[in-house]
Amino acid sequence: MSDKAENVPEHIAIIMDGNGRWAKERGLPRVQGHRAGAESVREAVAACSELGVKYLTLYAFSSENWNRPKAEVDALMKLLERFLKDKTPEILSKNVRLQAIGRIDLLPESCRKQLNKSIESSAENDGLTLILALSYGGREEIIDGVKSVLRAVQDGHIDEAMITPELFDSHLYTRYFPDPDLMIRTSGEMRISNFLLWQLSYSEFYVTRKNWPDFRRNDLEEAIAEYNRRHRRYGKL
Ligand code: IPE
Ligand code: IPE
Ligand code: MG
Repeated sequence: MSDKAENVPEHIAIIMDGNGRWAKERGLPRVQGHRAGAESVREAVAACSELGVKYLTLYAFSSENWNRPKAEVDALMKLLERFLKDKTPEILSKNVRLQAIGRIDLLPESCRKQLNKSIESSAENDGLTLILALSYGGREEIIDGVKSVLRAVQDGHIDEAMITPELFDSHLYTRYFPDPDLMIRTSGEMRISNFLLWQLSYSEFYVTRKNWPDFRRNDLEEAIAEYNRRHRRYGKL
């Protein structure tokens, strides 16, 4: 059992990686790894909700993941739709508010409909905000932000001198949420993979070798305990 966390991060972001390797190690098809990963999602949401984390962002599908074989993409989309359908009652009972970031318009229609339904039904909840990054890319988000700022300038709402980091922030998908305090990546990979490029500027990084389907509540608590041992300096002394 890990140390009890004294200081719970307000916002945790997770790159849920290693589902395919988890399956391969067991001689199973990759999709079984994604299926097993769904249980880790359930547990992470429940744990964050109970620990008093305010925001949890889960990287579930990247812009680049569209380049995987069609069968895997289709399976992931079906799994997402099923997960939302099955887990929305639990989300509601835990007072969780569901949100999504990314190019949601690119998701298959039935998946997008279920997502919007789940988001709408949880809109009044004020416990944990669960943000699913779907068809999400940090570079794409920044480009969309630049276009949005450009439109505001062209429409005469702002002028160039008003463009500050805070102003730009308000044009991003994540404008309603604070930046992540802690970013966790599973499966041992030490890269960002186009996740929240702007928002992770001063987040603490924690990498575990465990694959996502093996990530349990005690692993989350260990990451939070490690976060508490960090000294966030923000460039100061
Ligand atoms: C993470 O697991 C899930 C998604 C990216 C959708 P992977 O599918 O990337 O699994 P590995 O990294 O190949 O093991
Ligand atoms: C990052 O994992 C994306 C998600 C977890 C959704 P990937 O498996 O796609 O990243 P790379 O290819 O290892 O960088
Ligand atoms: Mg991967």
